[in-house]
Amino acid sequence: GHVVVLAGGLSYEREVSLRSGRRVMDALRAMEVDVEIRDADASLLAALTHDPPDVVLPVLHGASGEDGAIRDVLELLDLRYVGARPDACRVAWDKPTAKAVVRRAGLRTPRSVALPKELFHDLGATAVLDRVVAQLGLPLFVKPARGGSALGTSVVREAAALPTAMMGCFAYGDTALIEQYVSGTELAISVIERDGVPIALPAVEVIPGESGIYDYTARYDAGDTEFIAPARLPAKAAEQAADMAFTAHRALGLRDISRTDLIVDDEGQAHFLEVNVAPGMTETSLFPRALSAAHLDLGSALRDLIARRRF
Ligand code: DAL
Ligand code: MG
Repeated sequence: GHVVVLAGGLSYEREVSLRSGRRVMDALRAMEVDVEIRDADASLLAALTHDPPDVVLPVLHGASGEDGAIRDVLELLDLRYVGARPDACRVAWDKPTAKAVVRRAGLRTPRSVALPKELFHDLGATAVLDRVVAQLGLPLFVKPARGGSALGTSVVREAAALPTAMMGCFAYGDTALIEQYVSGTELAISVIERDGVPIALPAVEVIPGESGIYDYTARYDAGDTEFIAPARLPAKAAEQAADMAFTAHRALGLRDISRTDLIVDDEGQAHFLEVNVAPGMTETSLFPRALSAAHLDLGSALRDLIARRRF
């Protein structure tokens, strides 16, 4: 039977997902996997019911792709798919919840406050933000509590810049996560299960170019960001970072693949930022780079994950 790659969808990361999906499909076709790509639109349910695939590979980023909703549908249709189950996705997708889980599992993660839009408006923006700055200090990093690809995020270096950052954030979601900003080296550690055993791939170091910030443009415009894989890290920090990705993968009950994003500060301490259940697979994305650094091929790695779900 055939494999269906789910890509697109209606999230803010639709374009990124389409790029990821095409790359994945090409890589699988090169492995002679019978695969087609399907958008996650209103026709999805009918299509999957009419011609059920052997295995589904969700490459949907953002809401509904990573929050477990589409995977709930796959479960309902009794279809097999690659990746984490819906309940695990729900927890991983909500950054404040994921941070709480990994903190309980012993990981360090920046101190933060989650602020729903209603609370922000009800209590008066100035009063709330003053309290946040008093509690967390500066600089801060503002991001949607549920989101991806750095959309709606900003670094806040002075209190006066916070209201604008909040408006930018609320454009992409109803709850903001305001974190202490940790300066250091930004890393991504991808985890892939091989025969059911999670393997941490080499850390990829991210060095954003012009803006100095790994924002949407820096992520997806080729040449904007320098990537170093494996990352230039002292052995101890590299080990700590890999452990962090394993711990996040396990503590959140993820399956098959994940990518943990973290910062290693100037003292060599790793700080968990977030984990992605549907990591980007575009030409400039981190997961495929990590595979290359491990001398693994994207198509064959995904083909192996698909093969495990066929039975
Ligand atoms: N949210 C994007 C796709 C990523 O994490 O790679
Ligand atoms: Mg993300």
